[in-house]
Amino acid sequence: MKFKILLLVIVAAFAFAGCKYDWIIPEEVPVIDPDDPSQQVSFSEEILPIFTSGNNCTACHNGSQVPDLREANAYSSLNSTRYVNKTTPDESRIYAIPHPDGGHYKKYTAIQAALILAWIQQGAKNN
Ligand code: HEC
Repeated sequence: MKFKILLLVIVAAFAFAGCKYDWIIPEEVPVIDPDDPSQQVSFSEEILPIFTSGNNCTACHNGSQVPDLREANAYSSLNSTRYVNKTTPDESRIYAIPHPDGGHYKKYTAIQAALILAWIQQGAKNN
């Protein structure tokens, strides 16, 4: 009888220990379908804040370091084949250099990288 209780306690302990892993919630990376008009990425509302909020990129890219990513200049700075490759979007410098797997000073989160890529795939518009 005592053995059965002991066994129950052990089984219960394992069951609760197992639950621990449910608390680790993975970062959800949005899958953006660039051809779906309802999933249009906005430069001013979604892309710009990646560069400017908390001086994420503008700590350095503030005019002294190209590309100038300050709010007033970011679009015109990026509107060039040096930074945006509409034929092969994932080779765009503005996507590839700060990519999460890269070694830049500041890297995009997975979500930010997905937004940047979708924005380029959708034609890198000033929207
Ligand atoms: C701590 C300073 C610093 C921060 C923060 C920073 N960068 Fe940079 N970045 C640089 C420097 C310096 C270079 C010049 C090349 C090099 O050293 O890699 C550069 C180069 C680049 C280039 C390539 C420029 C070219 O013409 O080839 C891109 C694109 C870029 N950064 C984007 C970003 C983005 C986007 C962010 C924010 C997520 C960011 N950087 C954050 C310092 C920074």
